[in-house]
This record gives sequence, structure tokens and C-alpha cells, in this order.
Amino acid sequence: MQVDKVNIGVLASHGGSNLQAIIDACEQGQLDARVRVVISNNAESTALKRAGEHFIPHFYRSGKTHPDPADLDAGIAQLLEDHGVDVVALAGYMKKVGPITLRRFAGRILNIHPALLPKHGGVGMYGRRVHEAVLEAGEVTTGITIHLVDEEYDRGPIVAQCEVAVLPGDSPERLAQRVLEQEHVLYVDTLRRIASGEINLSKL
Ligand code: GAR
Repeated sequence: MQVDKVNIGVLASHGGSNLQAIIDACEQGQLDARVRVVISNNAESTALKRAGEHFIPHFYRSGKTHPDPADLDAGIAQLLEDHGVDVVALAGYMKKVGPITLRRFAGRILNIHPALLPKHGGVGMYGRRVHEAVLEAGEVTTGITIHLVDEEYDRGPIVAQCEVAVLPGDSPERLAQRVLEQEHVLYVDTLRRIASGEINLSKL
């Protein structure tokens, strides 16, 4: 079933290279979707700058702007709703999604994680730490997981995965770079499959 253009809301904390890949794919017509709003818990994040450069509404929301966690959660959910968001994409978002947002967007929040979950995920496992753990475990293959978000870190149903080889002599940085390049491909491809109806999130 072909659905209308999917409206995406992105939550990001730092560099926003996944956000950029999604924006580019939308602008270049590879992805039948548009990024409607970007929210970050980090006022200095490159993700917010990237959104601004593409004239996408963008907002800084954190414990500093909203000291009460329930207010922060409700505010984020409201921003997503106000911008007509269908699917929320976490792209390097280092905070837990609150219960109000989870309820309002149940089954429609995706996260990308730079490893093959359920391996090397959970509390504190983000960025460089994930790749260090992969190397310490002596894995010969790592990869990327896109999954639905629930109330625990890195735990919800898996939507898509792809493998990346660990090469002899890899450092965490080198491995992270190769994984990140593939993240961009996998995130865009997964969103494209959701937009085309090939992946039905409500059936996961
Ligand atoms: C990505 O590698 C993403 O998988 C990771 O943060 C990076 C964000 O990069 N997320 C996690 O580790 C979540 N557990 P980006 O800001 O350049 O898109």
C-alpha cells in the first residue's frame, strides 16, 4: 500500500550526520518523506545547525529549558504533534524518550544503534563505547540495528539490521567511521521502506 509522504520528526544530540543523510535523501527525492521538526537536548548540537540550514523548524529542549521531566516530555510530544509528525527518528539522541511521548507515538519511534542488538546495547552504550566493546569482545562482525523504541534503552522490536566487518587493526574510531557511513544508508533505506508501505511498523 502506498502511503502519503511520511512526516518525520528527528531527535538528535550531537553531530547529526544521520539527520543530514535523511534530509538529503528527502531533498533529492530518494525518500518520499520530509523532516518536519528537529529537537535536541543540546543547544550547541550540529544537528540543530543542520536543521536551520535547511529551514527545518528546530528546538532545544532539555532539563535546563524544562526542569520538570514530565513537562519536558509533554513539551516534546506536543512539538512533534504540532508539526504533524508520523514517525519519530532518534538519530544519536542520548536521552531516554519519556512515557508521554512513547504513548502518543507508540510503535512509531525508531532508534539507530551502532551494533548488532541485542549485543552491545543498553545503558551507557553509545558512540565510541559501543565500538570499544565490540573490539574488546573480539567480534569479527558488527553492524547496525534500527529498532522500535520502548521504555528501555536499545530493546524494542528490531526493524532492520546490517552487518559491517571488523577489520584487523581496527581502532574504535576507524570502526565507528565505517559503521556510521552504513548507518546513513540503512536509516534512509529503512525510512524509504516504511514510506512505501513495505515495512508496516504496526505489524512488528
Ligand atoms: C550514531 O553512531 C548512532 O548510531 C549513535 O550515535 C551516533 C550519532 O551520530 N547512537 C547510539 O549510540 C545510541 N545508542 P550522528 O549524530 O552523526 O547521527
